[in-house]
Amino acid sequence: MKVDVLLGLQWGDEGKGKIVDVLASRYDIIARFQGGPNAGHTIEFDGLKFVLHTIPSGIFAASRLNIVGNGVVIDPYIFSKEVAQLRSKNINPHHNLLISKKAHLILPTHRLLDAVYENTMGENRIGSTLKGIGPAYTDKTARQGIRVGEIHKDDFSSQYRILKEKHHRIIDSYNAGVANIKIDGLDFDSYEKQWLDAIELLKTYHQIDSEHFINSSLRTGKRILAEGAQGTLLDIEFGAYPFVTSSNTIAAGVCSGLGIAPSKVGRVYGTFKAYCTRVGSGPFPTELHDEAGALMRDRGHEYGSTTGRPRRCGWLDLTALKYAIMLNGVTDLVMTKGDVLDAFEQIQVATHYKLNDETIDHLPFEADQVKPLYESIKGWKQSLEEITSQDEFPAAFADYISFIQTHTQTPVNIVSVGPDRRQTIVLL
Ligand code: GDP
Ligand code: IMO
Ligand code: MG
Repeated sequence: MKVDVLLGLQWGDEGKGKIVDVLASRYDIIARFQGGPNAGHTIEFDGLKFVLHTIPSGIFAASRLNIVGNGVVIDPYIFSKEVAQLRSKNINPHHNLLISKKAHLILPTHRLLDAVYENTMGENRIGSTLKGIGPAYTDKTARQGIRVGEIHKDDFSSQYRILKEKHHRIIDSYNAGVANIKIDGLDFDSYEKQWLDAIELLKTYHQIDSEHFINSSLRTGKRILAEGAQGTLLDIEFGAYPFVTSSNTIAAGVCSGLGIAPSKVGRVYGTFKAYCTRVGSGPFPTELHDEAGALMRDRGHEYGSTTGRPRRCGWLDLTALKYAIMLNGVTDLVMTKGDVLDAFEQIQVATHYKLNDETIDHLPFEADQVKPLYESIKGWKQSLEEITSQDEFPAAFADYISFIQTHTQTPVNIVSVGPDRRQTIVLL
């Protein structure tokens, strides 16, 4: 067996959580491989709505296992809030959630550092979710992070104290007035207390050597889906650096984030919105600052699932999409939120860029200097929300999908027309 992958092809929030939930019934195990609680994955069914940050989106069936892999960074406090959210709806993740001992912890001081760095960058700020992601991955690569497997050890408190003191020395050097920085509305000491309580909760969860577990599950014929967070254009290597996140969001991240060999990667589902959004700073060639963008934001409820910030909106960018398909080896495209474009008479799609005086068909290093070149496509001007099969697609909507398939040379095999689990047409 191989590990299939579902990931985002744009700047995150493509609807990955919803689609993982839809596909989950085809798999025995769902595994997150990178990122942390900067992710906000929304799942809606039976009138319920959940937003998951750390826990994989396969958690809703008790029979399915969910794994938080070694490539993920975990904040026990945010994890405890997610557990509470699930338990309030009678879902008990205790039975079917496994956590890699090698996953790194996000400390309260990682969140302080994130805030201090962003505050001191002024106009150049990245627009981080301020969940401590960058500082936690920095400590991981600097070989001074703390992993989940350490929390049971006698010296955990001293490991924690030593790293916290290191962080305080850095923070002091910025003269940043840390006493005024709140974390989730709490002062540092109150937050730290809750974080330490959450470590006790985390201890009660099953911790494993996930690379062994995953490889032996494959050997015994288990079907595994890896769930990506963020999106390809936020990848630390290939996004428009420095306006990126701190992990490999691309398919290659599955190998390091779960401990599987490249030859063990199967299908790669690449999820994209029928238009584009971005939250945070950085280049966005097709961004709209007019009422078309405002209409997308309004109809698509484009406000961050993690931070509530308004998302920047713009037309679909096929040049960037082709880049993402190339980097990930996408086998199946998943298009979400086509219904948001129901209101548009004409829809623009960027097919090329102008860079200086040259027309190019790829996303270059100079991502901040390209100007999109558009083709105009007729809108369908009718509601897609009730559609349940491909035969019901309005002709103009089917043409929109064909246009994308022709340009990307990749089939669109799943189409989502609303936030609910039922509003999904799976063509394979
Ligand atoms: P993720 O981070 O990729 O899982 O995506 P988010 O959950 O952050 O953002 C996607 C948002 O769009 C959520 O509010 C979903 O409920 C919603 N959504 C997902 N698919 C669709 C769709 O096809 N149509 C509409 N209108 N909303 C959708
Ligand atoms: P999901 O999994 C959208 C963005 C932030 C910021 C940049 C760096 O829900 O798609 P970080 O907190 O990692 O230091 O932020 O990346 N970002 C996301 N944008 N969806 C996400 O996750 C994101 N995770 C991070 O807004 O621009
Ligand atoms: Mg999201």
